[in-house]
Amino acid sequence: MDYDVKDLALADEGKLAIEWAGRQMPVVQSIAERFGKEKPLAGLRLGACLHVTTETANLVLALKAGGAEVLLCASNPLSTQDDVAASLVKHYEIPVFALKGEDNDTYYRHLNALLDGRPQLTMDDGADLVSVLHSERQQQLSEVVAGTEETTTGVIRLRSMAEGGVLKYPIIAVNDADTKHFFDNRYGTGQSTIDGVLRATNILLAGKTVVVCGYGWCGKGVAMRADGMGASVVVTEVDPLRALEAAMDGYRVMKGVDAARMGDLFVTLTGDLGVLRREHFEVMKDGAIVANSGHFNVEIDIPALESLAVSQRTIRRYIREYTLADGRRLCLLGEGRLINLAAAEGHPPSVMDMSFANQALCSEYVAQHGQSLTNTVHPVPAEIDKEIARLKLATMEIEIDTLTPEQETYLNSWEMGTT
Ligand SMILES: NC(=O)c1ccc[n+]([C@@H]2O[C@H](COP(=O)([O-])OP(=O)(O)OC[C@H]3O[C@@H](n4cnc5c(N)ncnc54)[C@H](O)[C@@H]3O)[C@@H](O)[C@H]2O)c1
Repeated sequence: MDYDVKDLALADEGKLAIEWAGRQMPVVQSIAERFGKEKPLAGLRLGACLHVTTETANLVLALKAGGAEVLLCASNPLSTQDDVAASLVKHYEIPVFALKGEDNDTYYRHLNALLDGRPQLTMDDGADLVSVLHSERQQQLSEVVAGTEETTTGVIRLRSMAEGGVLKYPIIAVNDADTKHFFDNRYGTGQSTIDGVLRATNILLAGKTVVVCGYGWCGKGVAMRADGMGASVVVTEVDPLRALEAAMDGYRVMKGVDAARMGDLFVTLTGDLGVLRREHFEVMKDGAIVANSGHFNVEIDIPALESLAVSQRTIRRYIREYTLADGRRLCLLGEGRLINLAAAEGHPPSVMDMSFANQALCSEYVAQHGQSLTNTVHPVPAEIDKEIARLKLATMEIEIDTLTPEQETYLNSWEMGTT
């Protein structure tokens, strides 16, 4: 079996970590049990390009239980948990191509190694796999039945491909399921981004000014958690609706250059590029910390920061300190890559339980219906989304009410008005 992981000696540690996460993923576990009996993915080769974490390992095991032949590579150079990668290879015979800290060439070599396994289904996080398939390996496209996409940035790229008429197979936008982005992007990113920043820096958030760039699902989560830890939160936005929402949620909203002067910690979560750039670095305070939790490492203009610096050093693992000509020191965390995965462990398993339940059930869906879907980006079927919410509530031992027949009739009619 072909694979590329750091050290198989880490495998036993990884196995325990996978087991621990699995205990907090009851929905994925229940799907794995059903998959084990029904084998809905039997005979299919599935190539997954995801963050190689304990939660992903549990998803991969569910897909394997369903009969799929799964190959896995990293969706980010810094997010791999090497012990997990080792365990998947040693204990579960999954071909994994992922090394924490791999360079760009290795990252793309790994994507290509996975594609050498000729997957018929793809599972992407950021659309790099789909992008390589469509640009460099078009001869393989006819073998691919369908795919799924995990994150906002990937869905944006795929929609752009579909609009340009270049997308050659159907893809389900897992990110857009309510049981994904309402929870994973907001509560997952909210908690794990703070976790990443704290593990990297060990700063006290209370009393600090935290600038959150982008008030989308992820930004809302980070703002909410930073606020809860006593930080004074400032939001920057380009969308008037989201800016208004942030203001009414109680945060100060202002232009980036104004926020740049007052922030102690900056976190970008926009999916955009150059959000923090030269004009911001030029006015930041001495000691300001900049981090990114958006998908790609383009949100902070690192070349601009480097060109402004007279010297730089790694002062602590994950902290690169740049000294500017006037003596101010700006600190970049985790090479500007997703800080929650670079310096911490990504989202906690109980929230990935829902995201990856969507991935598993959507794989089953495309295995059954992929041939009849058009080559565009499709929503997660509403019944899958609802079912995951129902299953998750049940595992949390929460019961809710059901509509009475009278209420159902009322809610579907127009006749009854003012009484
Ligand atoms: N760290 C993680 O684990 C994790 C998890 C989920 C999503 N993501 C990624 O985080 C990013 C954001 O995802 P989301 O679901 O919140 O997206 P979203 O579309 O809900 O929100 C992004 C927000 O950023 C704003 N924005 C865009 N350009 C901006 C700029 N120059 N300055 C200020 N604001 C700007 C947009 O108006 C929007 O409100 C994406 O790249 C996504 O893939 C990361």
